[in-house]
Amino acid sequence: MSGGARHLLGVEDLSADDIERLLTLTDSFVEVSRRRMPKVPALQGRTVTWLFYEDSTRTRLSFEQAAKRLSADTLSFSVSTSSVSKGESLRDTVETIEAMGVDAIVVRHRSAGVPHQIAQWVSGSVVNAGDGWHEHPTQALLDCYTIREHLGGLAGRHIAIVGDINHSRVARSDVWAFTRLGAEVTLVAPPTLLPSSTEGWPVRVSHDLDAVLPHVDAVYLLRMQRERMTEALVPSLREYTTGFGLTRRRVDLLGEKAIVMHPGPMNRGVEIAADVADLPRSVVVDQVRNGVAVRMAVLFDLLGSGRELGRDLEGEGTR
Ligand code: CP
Repeated sequence: MSGGARHLLGVEDLSADDIERLLTLTDSFVEVSRRRMPKVPALQGRTVTWLFYEDSTRTRLSFEQAAKRLSADTLSFSVSTSSVSKGESLRDTVETIEAMGVDAIVVRHRSAGVPHQIAQWVSGSVVNAGDGWHEHPTQALLDCYTIREHLGGLAGRHIAIVGDINHSRVARSDVWAFTRLGAEVTLVAPPTLLPSSTEGWPVRVSHDLDAVLPHVDAVYLLRMQRERMTEALVPSLREYTTGFGLTRRRVDLLGEKAIVMHPGPMNRGVEIAADVADLPRSVVVDQVRNGVAVRMAVLFDLLGSGRELGRDLEGEGTR
């Protein structure tokens, strides 16, 4: 998604400048979102649709909210009630949708690489909303934005990502985004939940959460993804929580200003204690709120080329 790119397929493709540019663009859309009428004409005449082959609450709804706030037309598509259930192939589905005149397709799929494949079939833009264990780029962007909001920036910060790293597209995208912006990342997990090799990953690895917590500015908890586990990778969820859950006792090991993050949906009582999720230092709700503005920035960046940001951001709420 560097200048002039048509798609957002992964963070690994982005430079630090690309990420910073999107975060700066997000500032404008946070301002729009705070208006009495949080709607601008920036993408009038453009059409956005979503193709979600996996369930979602946050990503799906916040893309819809983002498109509507930009005045784009939206085509709602539900895989479960579509002709996919009659056996229609991915390619035929995508070409059918494109023939109706869409400018961007937001895709979530259980298989890594599907958004890249779709990008080769269509002339419009494709946004990866999560592909298998591979990437979830808009989650990483909203995480960076939230860290910047609370800690002032990522450079020199130390972030622990804790939990089911191996099955996590969020972990992969966050590692790229956080380290590109100058943060130090430590992955904390039992060996069974780490990739077989982290060679080439710009991270440190630990199996001792208690030892890491006093040294971090942010602790990022991953959901235990029971639906992606094909074998018993932890003895039991209770034992996982004993070793790697963020309990009240462990929160007391954190520095005074350290924040707690989670991409959602949370398994309260497993990777995060129920009361920890609601502490003031937990920024989970801010992550969701920032997700709308970040996705407005991404859609505007892909579809608003040639448009003038200043004039396009004039809405009723500005007058
Ligand atoms: N964080 C995230 O991707 O949440 P959803 O699965 O609800 O979209």
